[in-house]
Amino acid sequence: DGQIDNQRGALVVLEGLDRSGKTSQCNGLLSFLEGLGFSVESWRFPDRKTGVGEMISSYLANKSQLDDRAIHLLFSANRWEKRSLMESKLKSGTTLIVDRYSYSGVAFSSAKGLDIDWCKAPEIGLLAPDLVLYLDIPPEKAADRGGYGVEKYEQLEFQQKVSQHYQILRDDTWQIIDACLPMEDVEKQVRELVLDCVTACRNGKPLSQLWL
Ligand code: TMP
Repeated sequence: DGQIDNQRGALVVLEGLDRSGKTSQCNGLLSFLEGLGFSVESWRFPDRKTGVGEMISSYLANKSQLDDRAIHLLFSANRWEKRSLMESKLKSGTTLIVDRYSYSGVAFSSAKGLDIDWCKAPEIGLLAPDLVLYLDIPPEKAADRGGYGVEKYEQLEFQQKVSQHYQILRDDTWQIIDACLPMEDVEKQVRELVLDCVTACRNGKPLSQLWL
């Protein structure tokens, strides 16, 4: 219809512990929405392809060491360097499915003992997600799923702390999904929630900013 140019895309974020199934759900959502004819892209943070992303990647692979606050700010900078592209995509009608965002940034760093308000500060002014799908899984179960890889943070004790810190960040954009359900059930819930969100954004729900 004639209004199509004014209809913005939705910013949908998937969050959860390592091995919670986020990446599979992101892939599934992408093809589902494409199949319905929506303009949609799948993104992830960290975006390891930028210069900042390469530094993050080397840190995660234990190939370099960084102060806890320094790596926190790099993760945040990695989102800031994509902010304007994110905004223009959304405004031109493209829905973004994003694997991890500021909630990972704050949950992982505050789980190391950094002050939560200090962790949130550099995220202020980034675009706020329209919907956060939190794939909820007990850390022990996530660890059982083929085990963790070799990257930093992929250890049960640390994931338990991260899980607790995620809970503090819940707000009214969050939907908690039981990630222990069969994958098709998770997928069904995810699809319904995302379709509602995409519709609300097309109907004029305004874009907002994080943590203001
Ligand atoms: P990935 O496995 O989804 O690529 O994420 C890499 C790791 O980085 C994962 O353990 C979560 C962590 N992380 C942060 O600590 N801060 C952040 O801001 C993001 C996006 C991820």
